[in-house]
Amino acid sequence: MTQTTVIVGASRGIGLELVRQSAARGDRVIATVRRENAKAAPLEAGAALALVADVMEPASLNAIASMVDEPVDLLVCNAGVLNSYGGIEEAAHDRWAWLTVLMTNVAGPFFSARAFLPQLERSEAGKIAILSSGMGSNERAKGNAYPYRASKAGATNVARNLAVELSERGVSVGAYHPGWVRTDMGGGKADVPVEEAAAGLLARFDALGPDTSGVVEDYKGTPIPF
Ligand SMILES: NC(=O)c1ccc[n+]([C@@H]2O[C@H](COP(=O)([O-])OP(=O)(O)OC[C@H]3O[C@@H](n4cnc5c(N)ncnc54)[C@H](OP(=O)(O)O)[C@@H]3O)[C@@H](O)[C@H]2O)c1
Repeated sequence: MTQTTVIVGASRGIGLELVRQSAARGDRVIATVRRENAKAAPLEAGAALALVADVMEPASLNAIASMVDEPVDLLVCNAGVLNSYGGIEEAAHDRWAWLTVLMTNVAGPFFSARAFLPQLERSEAGKIAILSSGMGSNERAKGNAYPYRASKAGATNVARNLAVELSERGVSVGAYHPGWVRTDMGGGKADVPVEEAAAGLLARFDALGPDTSGVVEDYKGTPIPF
């Protein structure tokens, strides 16, 4: 049976590559992008549909979810921002950065999950995959990139709590570290090609189910301490 996957934040980077590989293997992909003029990339990569929503605006997520009248088997919460790697005196860690990074990376997956929950519950085995990061690991604190690290700790926390609350509703949830990936965010020195990260993530999403719900792992399946 064809799997229906919604990929939130699919204009470029890991999200776009997840669209390409999911569509190539025969999944029906619904991509979401932040801006109208970004729809072309996921459509060219094989998405059946491209919808516009900003994860900082729950009303926009609710609006696109209301256009999806079919069960959703997998929701990938991929949209994310990183403002700076700096330490405590980093000027970029200002009020707006904290607002944007926390709203996008923590509240974004929460609002996305809430918007698509009815469609996920209509699936025989609904799943939510939240793109977190090893940088959110409290055990691996490095003393920098404060908004981003805090946001990814929060994203993992949202995934763990959703896994508990949604288990009785038949929806499994995992948090995933994609590796250090060569994208706009990861930069040119990152060691994992986007194709490898996306292939690994898709395999991990396939392995997600009621028995593994609450997992926090990387794209190779190695557990991430949190
Ligand atoms: N690259 C890495 O090494 C790495 C490592 C660990 C975790 N991650 C996580 O993996 C995910 C994807 O990363 P990436 O490297 O592919 O990043 P990227 O190349 O910077 O792409 C980020 C994506 O998120 C979208 N986005 C940002 N804010 C949004 C918003 N408010 N509403 C909707 N979409 C929004 C962007 O859309 P626009 O084009 O409109 O900006 C873009 O599609 C992120 O959650 C990131 O934190 C990445």
